[in-house]
Amino acid sequence: MEDKISRWENPPSLPPTHYVDNRIFTDSEIFSEERDGIFAAVWKLVCHESELPQLGSYRALTVAGRPLIVVRGHDNEIRTFFNICPHRGAPLVRDESGTFGKRIQCFYHLWTYDLVGNCTGITRPVGYEPVGFSKEDIGLRPVRTEIIGGLVFVSIKNDVEPLEDFLGPMANHIRLHLPDDQPLEVFHYHRSEIRCNWKLWVDNNSEQYHEFLHVLNRKTGLAQPDYHERRWHLYPNSHNVIDQGAMNYGNVGLEERSEGLMPGMQPDALLVMLLFPDVMINVRATVMRIDTITPVAPDRTIVEWRGLGLKSDSEEQRDIRTRHHNQVWGPAGRNLPEDISAVEAQQISMSNDAFRYSIYAREEELRPHDDSNLRSFYQEWGRRVGRWPHDAGARRSDKTELGVVGIASE
Ligand code: FES
Ligand SMILES: [Fe+2]
Repeated sequence: MEDKISRWENPPSLPPTHYVDNRIFTDSEIFSEERDGIFAAVWKLVCHESELPQLGSYRALTVAGRPLIVVRGHDNEIRTFFNICPHRGAPLVRDESGTFGKRIQCFYHLWTYDLVGNCTGITRPVGYEPVGFSKEDIGLRPVRTEIIGGLVFVSIKNDVEPLEDFLGPMANHIRLHLPDDQPLEVFHYHRSEIRCNWKLWVDNNSEQYHEFLHVLNRKTGLAQPDYHERRWHLYPNSHNVIDQGAMNYGNVGLEERSEGLMPGMQPDALLVMLLFPDVMINVRATVMRIDTITPVAPDRTIVEWRGLGLKSDSEEQRDIRTRHHNQVWGPAGRNLPEDISAVEAQQISMSNDAFRYSIYAREEELRPHDDSNLRSFYQEWGRRVGRWPHDAGARRSDKTELGVVGIASE
């Protein structure tokens, strides 16, 4: 009996890259470190350009605890600012989205700004004349913003490498599947606050092994003879992509997906791309899904789900894409409720000191059920927060890598 209990209390007999200390899913100090060490220090996807459809369109959101607005200016340029009035800190907007006219007006003392961030008006400016202060001395605080394939990214910290360098070889995969000459459009958006640590949702999105959870995936994917022939491609900064593989939708009575394919896709194929730290781009032949994550607390995570088709879709084509999207991924689709119930149930165990270590030890030469992509994620996580994933209590001062097999630069 003692032997059986000690197996739960001591680290598993595996290399340290192959398991994770579950305190990384529950500890509030680690949660704060992730905010600054990861979410403020990477390129974070905030929306797709089609969600800013008009000159003056904006979206308000939070990145790494910082309130931001993303705005399409009257020059058609997309910019990001802190959603904070420089006068006394009132939020510039309190809606999640909308359209500005020529100006942004703060509701508190009615100062105004243009969509480039300049202050254009101070109410009763005469009061500042004795101290020589005027609207030219103030403006909105800008945030670095870059776009690839219509995806709008921001970086809170100014020393993050350019987006192209951050993405590395993943940039080419994005250009293939979100090409500028065939622009995409978001047609579905929903979000939910789920009761788990954000990394458990990343695990769920990254991992092909849990396809055993889904009846749909068991019948349409796992049963395919060449399912295990595909390979993961792991890139620096822990971005990754798996080869496309054809699903058999007929096995569950769903229609084939051979026409109206999304850019770069094969008939009936499934493709999954992960951008560190939180973005999953998943394409099922005729429709794309993009997930993004906003951590709220160690055990609370907002996930936003977007469904995308082509901007040029006919009404009939869009109906097909919408149907294909909702069959699997809609809020009442086959897979999403199953995934959410799994990660929320896991989180309950993570908060329990009887369960100390999770196992990420599968080695299958980068085939779909290999855990290398998850190991790569946790090593990247550890480098960025300055801790070892397998021993969350220990801080590290160096950037030593324990080594994950299979990371390629091309
Ligand atoms: S806080 Fe915005 S105008 Fe005063
Ligand atoms: Fe799933």
